[in-house]
Amino acid sequence: MFEEQGLTITRSLPSEGKMGIDKELYDRSKTQNIALLKWLDKMVEMCQPSTVHWCDGSDEEWDHLCEQMIERGSMIRLNEKIRPNSFLVRSDPRDVARVESRTFICSYGKEDAGPTNNWEEPRKMRAKLKRLFKGCMEGRVMYIVPFCMGPIGSPISQYGVQVTDSPYAVLNMRIMTRMGKEVLDSLGERDFFIPCLHSVGMPLTEGVEDVAWPCDPDNTYIVHFPEQRTIVSYGSGYGGNALLGKKCLALRIASCMARDNEWMAEHMLILGVENPDGEKTYVAGAFPSACGKTNMAMLVPPDSMTGWKVTTVGDDIAWLKPDEDGGIRAINPEAGFFGVAPGTSWETNPNAMESMKQNTIFTNVALTKDGDVWWEGLTDQAPDGMIDWRGNDWSPEATTPAAHPNARFTAPASQCPTIDQDWENPAGVPIAAFVFGGRRMSDIPLVYQSFNWNHGVYLGATLASETTAAAEGKLGNLRRDPMAMLPFCGYNMGDYFRHWIRMGKRLENKPRIFHVNWFRKDENGKFLWPGFRENMRVLRWIVERTSGQARAVESPLGWAPRQRDLDWSGMEFSEEQWQELMKIDPESLRMQTLRHEELFLQLSEFLPKEMLFERELLVSRL
Ligand code: GTP
Ligand code: SPV
Ligand code: MN
Repeated sequence: MFEEQGLTITRSLPSEGKMGIDKELYDRSKTQNIALLKWLDKMVEMCQPSTVHWCDGSDEEWDHLCEQMIERGSMIRLNEKIRPNSFLVRSDPRDVARVESRTFICSYGKEDAGPTNNWEEPRKMRAKLKRLFKGCMEGRVMYIVPFCMGPIGSPISQYGVQVTDSPYAVLNMRIMTRMGKEVLDSLGERDFFIPCLHSVGMPLTEGVEDVAWPCDPDNTYIVHFPEQRTIVSYGSGYGGNALLGKKCLALRIASCMARDNEWMAEHMLILGVENPDGEKTYVAGAFPSACGKTNMAMLVPPDSMTGWKVTTVGDDIAWLKPDEDGGIRAINPEAGFFGVAPGTSWETNPNAMESMKQNTIFTNVALTKDGDVWWEGLTDQAPDGMIDWRGNDWSPEATTPAAHPNARFTAPASQCPTIDQDWENPAGVPIAAFVFGGRRMSDIPLVYQSFNWNHGVYLGATLASETTAAAEGKLGNLRRDPMAMLPFCGYNMGDYFRHWIRMGKRLENKPRIFHVNWFRKDENGKFLWPGFRENMRVLRWIVERTSGQARAVESPLGWAPRQRDLDWSGMEFSEEQWQELMKIDPESLRMQTLRHEELFLQLSEFLPKEMLFERELLVSRL
């Protein structure tokens, strides 16, 4: 099931001389992998780096790269006593988030990318990229980063090799993936791996002075060739644009592999819920970027819910495969968290705070006087005498934020106190429920359950959220973000819905599907629901619905709990509050449903009939 299309290769090594490659430039004896060497030869010749470094993933390499970045003014070592082996990096203010407008799916046919993706004819795109990449690493080191998404050696895992001129990307990849010599050895001579080419796009040609954060915002391209399973990224050094194992491989390319091989690659957290009897249920949740996946994955139940425990498998990406029992099992392909810093605190997410106590890279947060980090929401009071994410003096009276709203921490998953004992189990964990959620300040109640699988697919397909700082663009607009995958689906969204429906038919033991909204507000703009750890009350209901223990009543949107169906131990919540939180206004929702049309019209010719049918049913229930 996991064999994918390989690269076409010939079984002989090209000679070094023929390629015009200087033997001194890079050590071709590190691997016997012919496909890899052939690809690398071409990359070296095209990019013309001054040297080539094979990343082994060692501590020495980490130290060396950090030292180098510090020396060049690209990185600041944080106070060793407060935050050992941790660093602050400030990006160019023009390179602070994913750039969806410059992200392309270059399939052969435009229809294969579908109306929600940018598309360019692959040959044209290749020609454009060739021009950009020619000599793009002049004066720089080319790093070869062998990495594995998923545990090394697991049949579910996928190998990739990223070539990059960004030491920042290397350091982040070391936290976010399994990376280095062990991966290269395990890849062996296999010819299938995903080639990932990356450059920040600032060659050090004669007379060009290096800068702390090189990038080329005017020429940024994040490009995927789904048929060849290859990735090319130019011009940005930030997050998903540059750590190519994450969104590019584990979501966009993997979603294509998943479609072809009957599995699923989803923008989902994975968590385990243990009840007081020690029974464990795993849940996967899709929320758009910066809408609470990390928080939910590391949830700490309220003290009053004695005996309940949440464990963390992953906070951003799930790969899900059908198992022999007719169910579906999930692995987290990543090895670290690339989490949103603002809003994260000892109150809101103590497990994230523990995870980033050491060995962590902070990007675009503020620096305190004593060499530690700060961001909005970390403490009520901002400390005096800080330096903001742009490197300027900052005081609490300032009108601009100290940390960028999309500031992030990169921390090893193994440092999370609640990490699940099976988080690296190659077989994955069995998933009992899927949860969809977005930021919806109005209309959408706290929680409801779909009537059946296809209705659940409809809930996912019509998921909407107010936009956040995780991507470029205006904040707070309501946009449709099907399954939280709008920016991450590597093929036609209509076919993606069809794939979901097909998976439902295939699974005997289907996860139950839910919709949640932690973000509903009253008319004064105040959150109606306290959220964070109190979300455990909703999670308990969800988990107990999957085992048939919890009760619900029918509503136009789906099965919904009454107030008495939730666990309220230790929490005051009035009936009026509950009514407001769960209110369904048929008139306003009918309007909402008509607005589904926007996306549905865009997708019209590709939309599975089941989705139209579900919409009809919803309208008639309303
Ligand atoms: P990506 O990494 O971009 O995919 O995002 P994510 O979904 O993991 O987002 P994350 O968990 O980091 O949450 C981002 C923001 O959501 C933070 O500012 C949190 O404070 C806020 N947030 C998370 N959970 C809740 C909640 O239950 N209620 C409210 N009001 N805010 C929340
Ligand atoms: C997201 O935007 O969903 C992220 C951050 O998880 S990034 O990796 O930059 O895409
Ligand atoms: Mn994400």
